[in-house]
Amino acid sequence: MRVIAIANQKGGCGKTTSAVNLSAALAFFGYKVLLVDLDPQAHATLGLNISRDITIYDVLSKISKYKASLKQIVVPVAANFDLAPSNILLSTIEQELSDEISREARLMDALSELDSDYDFCFIDCPPNLGLLTINAIRAASEVIVPVEASRFAVEGVKKIIEIIDLIKERLAHPVKYKVLVTMFDSRLRHSFGVLDSINDVFKNKLFETMIHLNVKLKEAQSKGLPVISHDKYSRGAKDYLNLAREVTKDDKQKPTVIKEGALEAVMRAELPKFKEVAFGFLAPYAKDVYIVGDFNSWTKSNESRMDRDNNGRGMWSINLPLLTGSYRYKFIVDDAWVEDPANPTKEKNPFGGIDSLINVEIG
Ligand SMILES: Nc1ncnc2c1ncn2[C@@H]1O[C@H](COP(=O)(O)OP(=O)(O)O)[C@@H](O)[C@H]1O
Ligand SMILES: [Mg+2]
Repeated sequence: MRVIAIANQKGGCGKTTSAVNLSAALAFFGYKVLLVDLDPQAHATLGLNISRDITIYDVLSKISKYKASLKQIVVPVAANFDLAPSNILLSTIEQELSDEISREARLMDALSELDSDYDFCFIDCPPNLGLLTINAIRAASEVIVPVEASRFAVEGVKKIIEIIDLIKERLAHPVKYKVLVTMFDSRLRHSFGVLDSINDVFKNKLFETMIHLNVKLKEAQSKGLPVISHDKYSRGAKDYLNLAREVTKDDKQKPTVIKEGALEAVMRAELPKFKEVAFGFLAPYAKDVYIVGDFNSWTKSNESRMDRDNNGRGMWSINLPLLTGSYRYKFIVDDAWVEDPANPTKEKNPFGGIDSLINVEIG
């Protein structure tokens, strides 16, 4: 059994989403997967529409009146996919075990009885570096560190890596880590800059697969489903299926893939394509120029700021990746809203003004 912890002390970076959807993708490929929800907030448990009174807390605790083994608490989620649920009681475990010897090895000990029952065990960690996360890293041979593309801060990631290294040295425990970029928004130019800096810092410690920002992942979670059960043709489903492939690429004993035809159809289906559209505006005396429109909710931001040429002619430009569709837009030139003089296509807006209109067609 490969035990993989999904850890980062930062909340909201995609740990639970990755734990649930990577588990489901591997189960879809025919691997037997156990997901351990080790977060007292129980997002993975709730996100799969499961609620239990006897949980991982009763496995790790010494004083629980239900003292249970992992096998006893496991709940089936889908074919090949089981969950060890959590609930809020788990938040008391830190204090409860504070005087216990080898308190950092309790999850590892509990998992040992299941070693031959599963191919993979994923551990969804809480958003801190306390005893639960340490138990997860201690039990794991690999750690996946998700980082949110738009809010990447190298210091935060270094902290979790320090903890991994510490556990490796202090406990002579071989564990490797890899960074997973999540919520990548390819519509924002800013994203590509961030990706470059993540690449610079982590180079060969980075998964080739990136998880894109995809609303289907959020929808799936609110419906209590993994994304491949909610919309298997979505970008989110594809990303996690690709990640599952990457995670198993060196596997010698691959299971016979179930639902082979279905999988091929998913992988072949077309993803929406973007087209780079160039916009320009001549304004030699302007201090700054933005483009706002349907594609960016009409908001001024770093991503909507245009670049000035450096030959002094005063041409401002920007390239935007857009999907097929029609978009209304304007430029904001030093706070004045103006139409695009280079584009003859215009449309009246509901406020009595006029917007420029662009039709994007791909194909
Ligand atoms: N790739 C994604 N695209 C869109 N929304 C996402 C994506 N990944 C995560 N989310 C959403 O972001 C929020 C935080 O993600 P979550 O996985 O719960 O983070 P963590 O477990 O690290 O706190 C959730 O609402 C989730 O649905
Ligand atoms: Mg979480």
